[in-house]
Parts: sequence; C-alpha cells; structure tokens
Amino acid sequence: MSVVLTNIGELVTNDPGLGGGLGIVTGAAVVVDDGRIAWTGPAASAPAADVAVDLGGRCVIPGFVDSHSHTVFAGDRSAEFAARMTGEPYTGGGIATTVAATRAAGEDTLRARAQALVREMLAQGTTTVEIKSGYGQDVATEARTLRIARELTPETTYLGAHTVPAEYADDRPGYLSLVTGPMLAACAPHARWVDVFCEPAAPTAFDEDESRVVLRAGLRAGLGARVHGNQLSAGPGVRLAVEVGAASVDHCTHLTDADVDALAGSWSADPGGSRGPGTVATLLPAVEFSTRSPYPDARRLLAAGVPVALATDCNPGSGYSSSMPFVVALAVREMRMSPAEALWSATAGGAAALRRDDVGHLGVGARADLAVLDAPGHTYLAYRPGVPLVSEVWKDGARVTPR
Ligand code: NIG
Ligand code: FE
Repeated sequence: MSVVLTNIGELVTNDPGLGGGLGIVTGAAVVVDDGRIAWTGPAASAPAADVAVDLGGRCVIPGFVDSHSHTVFAGDRSAEFAARMTGEPYTGGGIATTVAATRAAGEDTLRARAQALVREMLAQGTTTVEIKSGYGQDVATEARTLRIARELTPETTYLGAHTVPAEYADDRPGYLSLVTGPMLAACAPHARWVDVFCEPAAPTAFDEDESRVVLRAGLRAGLGARVHGNQLSAGPGVRLAVEVGAASVDHCTHLTDADVDALAGSWSADPGGSRGPGTVATLLPAVEFSTRSPYPDARRLLAAGVPVALATDCNPGSGYSSSMPFVVALAVREMRMSPAEALWSATAGGAAALRRDDVGHLGVGARADLAVLDAPGHTYLAYRPGVPLVSEVWKDGARVTPR
C-alpha cells in the first residue's frame, strides 16, 4: 500500500542534490511505498497513492539516528548526578555501581527497562538507535545485554572493555584476555560493532595499547570498530580510532590539532582513490551538560571538514537523556552549530557514524523513517527547547507514534 504525506510546510530530505545542506523542499509531499521513500517533491506534482495523509503544514524531518547509547542497565545513579551538580567531578568511577546492579537484575527486568527507553526515544523522533553492552563485564551478563539489545536494534555494540571490573583490578591482562577471548566469542554473534573506553585519565578505563588489543580482536571477529575517546583528556583515542579504521570516535571533548588532522585525513582519498569511509567525530553534548564539563569544539571539527554526528549517549551515569531534540538544542546553543548543521549531524551524521546509507535521509530508496514536527520548520527544534515538538513518528513506512 502506498501513502502520500502531503501539505508538508517544510520537508528536510538531507539530499545534497536539492541545493545543499538539508535539501529542503517547501510545500512538499512524500510518497511512501513498501516501507521506502518512493518520491519527494512539491505537493502540487505528487503522484497518486492509495492513501493520502494531510500534515497540515507541519515540518517533516528524517528520523533521528542516535548512534551512541547504553540503554540496557539496571540500578539508579541519580545521587551521583546530584553530587556532581554540587561540585563532584565525573570520573567514570560510578560505572561499577551500574555493573553490580545489572549483574544482579533478572533478564526480564533488563529487557523491560531497555524497551521502555527505546519507546521513549521513538516518541522523540529517534528511528535508529545504537545500543552498547558494557554494564555486565562478565561473559553471561555481556551476552545477555547484547541479546536484549539485538531484539531492539540491529546496531549493537560489544563494549566488554568499558571498565576493568573490581575482581580484575589486580589483573588487567586477565580481564583483557577474557574480553578478547571467551567474552568476545559469546558476544560477537549478537553484535555489529566493538567499542572500548580508551581513556588513560580514568584509572579503570583502558590505555592505548590495551584499547588497540581490544579493537583488533573485535575486527578479527568480524565486527566494525568504534571508540570512546578523548572524553576526559586529550588521550590517544582519536588517533587509535583512525588507525584501525573505526566508523566513529565518540565524545571528542579534548582534541589536539593532530587529532583534528587525523580525523580530517581519514576522509581524504589515498592516491589510488581506494580509501573507504573515514572516521566520524560523534559529539555527545548531553554528557557535558550532565557532568558540567566544557563542550566539545564542534566548529573546529567542521572547519577542518570532519563529518560530525550528534548522539545522546543515554546512560545512567554521564548523561541520562534519551532526547535527540535536546541534543540538537544543546549543539546549537552551546556548541555554536547552526540549526541546519545540528539537524544534519543528528540524522545523516549519525547514519555516517553507523555506515548506513538507508537511514538519516529521505531520498528515494531510503527507509521511510521520519518525524513530523508540530512546527513550521526545523529551526524550531532549538528555538523551542524542551517542548515536545515531535507529534508523529513513522518507521518503515508506518505511523508508530502516537499509537
Ligand atoms: O559514554 N565514558 C564511558 N562510558 C559512558 C558513561 C558510563 C557511565 O558513567 O555509566 C559514557 O559517558
Ligand atoms: Fe558512551
């Protein structure tokens, strides 16, 4: 069955062929057929379809692609947040609290909580989400986490190397052997990606050599690489991500010139022109908000030509927002991205960070994943922060919210 969504005040396609930037069409229509975008253009010239839906002049954007989240966990760390707001620093040390609660939780509890978070994301316009493990840190709990995550999304990431758990505090090589051996074997069938918290400034996270071992083992097991890098210090994460051909390095809060050059260089073709896609810089400003830290320098990355993605990093510790509209508003207000740049990064940028070409845009052939805003244009996402502007969400060509 085909559907024409018509009377769209502003349609954001992200199609660079339509005048660059967001590829905006005003007074637009979209035809959806068999779950995919079949046609976009001025409403007056839309082809007929089985069903017509009048969107009353509202704005349509591609569904958000949230390329970084940790949504399978148990426990509560609101007290840690409250302490931070009165002066405590964020060190990553609280991760152990969530690991203990996640190990102790039953599978049904973990699943129900994760489902609720993904529903919450969907209602705010997120139609593609990546979900990491990392709060199990033993073979059974990491594998359980990834099985649950796989029920919710194909974009699952094995993050056994999130931190070194307490029982291995005096045996880091032992934990690395577990992460790159039996734990990887149990998790790889449920994962598309491998990730590591590369942060020499955090004593329980991983240094450059340890991180390289984890990423290379994941690559050998057929996973793609992504990295938590340069969150708390200008560490080696960004350059390691580029070295191993990671799809994305996430956080990028503390960058040197060499880091920015490495990211930009990852996108320039080698003399034979054979180079694949480079490494996206994924910025997570809801973390800086929730840890009261300085924001990453988005303008420096954009000026260097580095593709930038925006994601929530939804997790119980460093930032517990599931809201891409909130992230867009922070990126505009706090990181000086234009509303157009921020929306591109939250959609097409996220798709690039997941090496997906079927989401993050509304070109012909793309998945019909989109959000309808109760607003005349995309600027309203940042202009009206905190207001629930996402009034409908469509996924694979069907309206999924409101139900
Ligand atoms: O992306 N940096 C490491 N991991 C998470 C935080 C996890 C936590 O504090 O529970 C992050 O910020
Ligand atoms: Fe994270």
